[in-house]
Amino acid sequence: MQGDAYLKCVNPKCGLEYTILSTNVQCENGHVLDVKYKNKPSPNLKETFYQRRNSKGSIFNESGVWRFRELLNFCQIDTEDIEECSKVLVSLDGAEGRQSKPYQMSKAAEFIGIEKNGLWLQPEGYNPSGSFKDNGMATAVTHAKMVGAKKIVCASTGNTSASAGMFAANEGIKCDVYIPAGQIAPGKLSQAYQFGAQIVQVEGNFDDALKQSLEDAKNYDGYTVNSVNPFRIEGQKTIPIRALEYLNWEVPDWIVYPGGALGNTSSCGKALMELYEWGWIKKIPRIAVINSEGASTLSDLYNGEFEGEELRWNKGNPNTELISRYYDHLDKEGLRPKTKATAIQIGRPANILKGLRSLEFTNGVVTTVSDSEMLDGMSVVGLNGFDCEMASGATVVGIKKLMNQGIIKKDDVVVGILTGRQKDAMIPVDYHSDSKNTFAIPPKK
Ligand code: F0G
Repeated sequence: MQGDAYLKCVNPKCGLEYTILSTNVQCENGHVLDVKYKNKPSPNLKETFYQRRNSKGSIFNESGVWRFRELLNFCQIDTEDIEECSKVLVSLDGAEGRQSKPYQMSKAAEFIGIEKNGLWLQPEGYNPSGSFKDNGMATAVTHAKMVGAKKIVCASTGNTSASAGMFAANEGIKCDVYIPAGQIAPGKLSQAYQFGAQIVQVEGNFDDALKQSLEDAKNYDGYTVNSVNPFRIEGQKTIPIRALEYLNWEVPDWIVYPGGALGNTSSCGKALMELYEWGWIKKIPRIAVINSEGASTLSDLYNGEFEGEELRWNKGNPNTELISRYYDHLDKEGLRPKTKATAIQIGRPANILKGLRSLEFTNGVVTTVSDSEMLDGMSVVGLNGFDCEMASGATVVGIKKLMNQGIIKKDDVVVGILTGRQKDAMIPVDYHSDSKNTFAIPPKK
């Protein structure tokens, strides 16, 4: 396996390659990077993955990320020996991804108007730090350890910092988190403090915090664990992989995510591209990305709502000037992303190019939903006995909207990802206190 994995620039005209031990998050021409593998993992591994569900005492089989280690084998592990794996792989005692799999939720299906058997919702909030981030953090921190990093750094709307803090504390390394002051859920902020992270408050929004954290990481020897890090994307591939495995590799028609920095969109697309190329799947599900109305960069550009051009990956030739003009327009008009779903309050999605590539590969769609719709989506998930946060509610109401538009069909099979659990206790309290809300059960006096 030696020398199997390497880094490659995503821009086909550039295509610069780097060794797997490189810590660059971009090539020297400023393009994002992919982890690439020379070997094609055999579909026979499906049986191995299934058997590992009986973990036989190995935390790396228990882990919903490392159970699939051959599909993200950038550290070239070729052994089942726990001691050997422990020297390389980073895990929260096997808990990352362990509990997240797709569930049928009848009340959500009824609300959406889809066949009960056609809707699968996968709560990633049941990860140890409470969001999907743990999938990618396990792999990013594994790479940080491979390169001997002493400090990990991230900007965050809250969940990334909670996850990074938890992993850093477990590994005994430092962690600096840059957060937009006053704009993250209290439960997320308190997690970063609890895990001993150094908080850096940035006056501005997430986009400003990311810019500053990337600069500081470069200047002060930090290892960036935001989703611009290609190793984050590797771990997050296991989100759709777990869904596919639980559906016995019967490929759904749709996979639906809320859209923020577009790490999820990128990782889902990469997983599907690889599985298709490796002959593991014969059909390609369509990805739907749901933006908040108040933070709708991808939707505006993809749907041609800015300058009338529909932005596309275009086989590796996206119109990046259109993106730059869009950002200039936001700056000139003083337009800042604004939504109560602070997790996805992002104006400059760092992974927009990889996101576009995923959408092109999967014939994807992008739409927006309002804050009050997201609250309804979040609340109907609760009525099925599952927890999720407001941004995750976008998935549910996004599916509903796309069905109403006839884009998702009544008999389609849809997997929706519920990205995180509730960390802002007052959001459900306020929602249910107002009897006008669709699912409100106001308190009795
Ligand atoms: N849902 C939740 C709960 C999130 O925390 C995020 C992103 C997203 C969706 C968007 O996912 O970036 O892959 O498109 N949160 C990041 C953070 C930005 O810092 O915690 P994406």
